[in-house]
Amino acid sequence: MSGMLSSLVNKYNIAGPRYTSYPTVPYWNQNTFSLKNWKTSLIKSFKESNAKEGISLYIHLPYCESLCTFCGCNKRITKQHGVERPYIDAVLKEWQLYLELFDEKPIIKELHLGGGTPTFFSPENLTLLIKGILKTALVADGHEFSFEGHPNNTTRAHLEALYSVGFRRVSYGVQDYNETVQKAIHRMQPFENVKRATEMARDVGYTSVGHDIIFGLPFQTLEHVRETILKTKALLPDRLAFYSYAHVPWIKGNGQRGFNDSDLPSADLKRQQYELGKQLLAEVGYHEIGMDHFALQTDSLYKSMQNGDLHRNFMGYTPSKTQAMIGLGVSAISDSWYGFSQNEKGIEAYYHLLNENILPVYRGHILNEEDLVIRKHILNLMCQFKTTWSGHSLYFKELPEVLIKLKEMENDGLLNIGSNTIEVTKKGQPFVRNICMAFDLLLQRKQPDTQLFSMTV
Ligand SMILES: C[S@@+](CC[C@H](N)C(=O)[O-])C[C@H]1O[C@@H](n2cnc3c(N)ncnc32)[C@H](O)[C@@H]1O
Ligand code: SF4
Repeated sequence: MSGMLSSLVNKYNIAGPRYTSYPTVPYWNQNTFSLKNWKTSLIKSFKESNAKEGISLYIHLPYCESLCTFCGCNKRITKQHGVERPYIDAVLKEWQLYLELFDEKPIIKELHLGGGTPTFFSPENLTLLIKGILKTALVADGHEFSFEGHPNNTTRAHLEALYSVGFRRVSYGVQDYNETVQKAIHRMQPFENVKRATEMARDVGYTSVGHDIIFGLPFQTLEHVRETILKTKALLPDRLAFYSYAHVPWIKGNGQRGFNDSDLPSADLKRQQYELGKQLLAEVGYHEIGMDHFALQTDSLYKSMQNGDLHRNFMGYTPSKTQAMIGLGVSAISDSWYGFSQNEKGIEAYYHLLNENILPVYRGHILNEEDLVIRKHILNLMCQFKTTWSGHSLYFKELPEVLIKLKEMENDGLLNIGSNTIEVTKKGQPFVRNICMAFDLLLQRKQPDTQLFSMTV
């Protein structure tokens, strides 16, 4: 890595949000939030957008058979598959409670099964879940149904069952192929398993197969990243998430404490790992999409970036924007555009509220005028690496102060400030989170007392 990039990394590697939402979750205002406000915001959004563009559904399936010690997701570890059916029934009950709010059938544009491990569930139970939802809804033209599969336990029966209810995209967790790294993160997963799962998906008819890879893992070297990317290239997934390892042990308790902080690569090495991965991927035609995603030209994520339709929400980057996204299942987050809500994280609390016929929401945020403007700027920056305030709708009174903050980044070559635009340069793209932080008025007004976010690099 050049000395200049290295000094930029040192300068800008601070704790910062990943901006899957604005306001970010720690800045949600509980005082203006209530279940009633949340329902009102969703009903308004649904009326405005369902017929026009449809809605998105995210379903959180939290179970995994074994714990990976790096994992930042909300999951429950068990080998008891008796948990499957009650959970599916609860999610369908939650969906029923949402249906009662709407006076027309939802039109589903995107549906994503995340986790945890969706393929922990049997193909029969997954079919029950999806059919239970689809019988109450319509499916939009050009719908995108996708799921996260664990390469070690995704079977042909899983792939076929979900294919037959409309799924065409699967993403597999890979992380890293090196054995030392795999041992440290407690996830033994030979290349053959990923190869088998990838080829099986294609054989069944999936048109987009994705892999998740992580850099910055414990004991991971540049050579490990190179090997992992070379193996990945051999399978040529349509889409890749190339995540920076988010080390947030204070949130996830003991789960991530399977190794010491000193076993993690330095910020400089992390940035080198990222640069190497990016270069190796570019050689075979992968395009970088926003932050930490790559796609082949034939994948819908690339096409949507080209058309300016790329969107970012709690699922990460998605090819189209729907104004309303309903999250079902424990810890799932919903987004009505005018508000956010998050479900109870514990299964018992989630079941308890559903038994009382209450939506299992435990916190959220209703966006005010200022939030809506800032949210748009942050989305523009994260999805298109530029934003504009021409006309009045996206101007806000603190903008001059934000521009003063950005001036230093302009001097460092990370962005260009025009008369009413900001454009992030190629050099600035890895620092887009830092650029968004300058717009994050809530963060500016109150810096957190303790570290809430992972490091930006
Ligand atoms: C729910 S998992 C994918 C499905 C399945 N559970 C699996 O592990 O194969 C979602 C993905 O999030 C990513 N992830 C989880 N914890 C992370 C962390 N602390 N930092 C960066 N990425 C993380 C991993 O790449 C993982 O594949
Ligand atoms: S990485 Fe996947 S399988 Fe591992 S604990 Fe997290 S959700 Fe479960």
